[in-house]
Amino acid sequence: MSSWFPTDFLFGAATAAHQIEGGNLNSDWWAFEHEPGSGVRDVSGDACDSWHRWAEDLDLAASIGLNSYRFSVEWARVEPAPGEFSSAALDHYRRVVEGCRIRGLVPVVTLHHFTLPRWMADRGGFESTEIAERLGTYASKVGDAVGDAIGLACTINEPNVVALMGYLLGVFPPKVADRGRFEQVSANMRASHHAMVAALRAASGSFPVGLTLSMAEMEAVEGGEHQLARALEHLEDAYLRDLTGDDFIGVQCYTRLRFGPDGPVDIPEGARRTKMGYEYRPEAVEHTVRRAAAVTGLPVVVTEMGISTDDDAERVAFIDEVVAGVTSCLSDGLDVRGLYYWTLLDNFEWSLGYSQPFGLIACDRGTFLRRPKPSASHWGRIAAAARGSSTSHGADR
Ligand code: FCB
Repeated sequence: MSSWFPTDFLFGAATAAHQIEGGNLNSDWWAFEHEPGSGVRDVSGDACDSWHRWAEDLDLAASIGLNSYRFSVEWARVEPAPGEFSSAALDHYRRVVEGCRIRGLVPVVTLHHFTLPRWMADRGGFESTEIAERLGTYASKVGDAVGDAIGLACTINEPNVVALMGYLLGVFPPKVADRGRFEQVSANMRASHHAMVAALRAASGSFPVGLTLSMAEMEAVEGGEHQLARALEHLEDAYLRDLTGDDFIGVQCYTRLRFGPDGPVDIPEGARRTKMGYEYRPEAVEHTVRRAAAVTGLPVVVTEMGISTDDDAERVAFIDEVVAGVTSCLSDGLDVRGLYYWTLLDNFEWSLGYSQPFGLIACDRGTFLRRPKPSASHWGRIAAAARGSSTSHGADR
């Protein structure tokens, strides 16, 4: 099975700054978590303390056999006030990027993963007409600081989720539920992506740049064709069609969604669910990879796939099914370049706080002790076997 993987295929784990670093005080999410009535289950607090323990995280990623690590740079730390850039924060991320290289991990750097500096949120966040230019300037600074060592850059993580959750469903900051504002934000997201691509290409270094999009296997139940078409257009195709000239599309997929005449419908009674409440549907990853490739014509990197579960054997089985789907894409000649498990460490799952164990590695909330689960070495063995080499854990596939 694994022989279908090209030798330079990227096998990684993904994380995001706010979910693991801890103490992200200057971000809109930190403020939001502390607002009474925000609906956020826990405050992020110290998270996994990865701001200090990043080297241990990289050691773990390398020791389990991965050849890549995806993480995000925190805008709120790099630009603590408008136009004021922190050399110390940029130096920190420089150490992380170099730390990846030293350990044989290709660094995949996301520049925006859900959070804004508070000052940008106060100025209207993604509704502001200045957001694209601001993100472009920030991207230039990051590119100049670490661009020569970046493996791949992702501009905005799941702009469609930020727009949907923040401006249509009213769950994420700024908790707005307004179709007009959602559409404006979606348009600003696309403009911001373009500004960031241009800025990164003009900065130091030469590395592929792309967008990461949340995608789902979507289908209509009786009479739901119109709602399905609407969801596909607003959540996926409007973005996918807009990526001409990008170097890759990052696909992030967790499940399947169904639409009836009035919109999304519940998962059928008795269907298997993950701890997130999503339908258990590892096949959805293959489906979305094929769709993303067909619509964009771009190389695909699966920048996130994963499962929240207390049963690590279920995670192992989920990973195997995703790998089988991606192998089938490769054997059909699709240009898929990498696969990232979400996530390296159990971490802060946004509104659901610390209730969702997605990680390959458990992280004690009091001591920050990291404890790899069996799925970590399983994922590493798949990576090592695909490269035709073995890790310290041995390659048995
Ligand atoms: C994705 C997000 C990531 C994490 C996973 C479970 O939508 O990019 O931060 O929350 O879902």
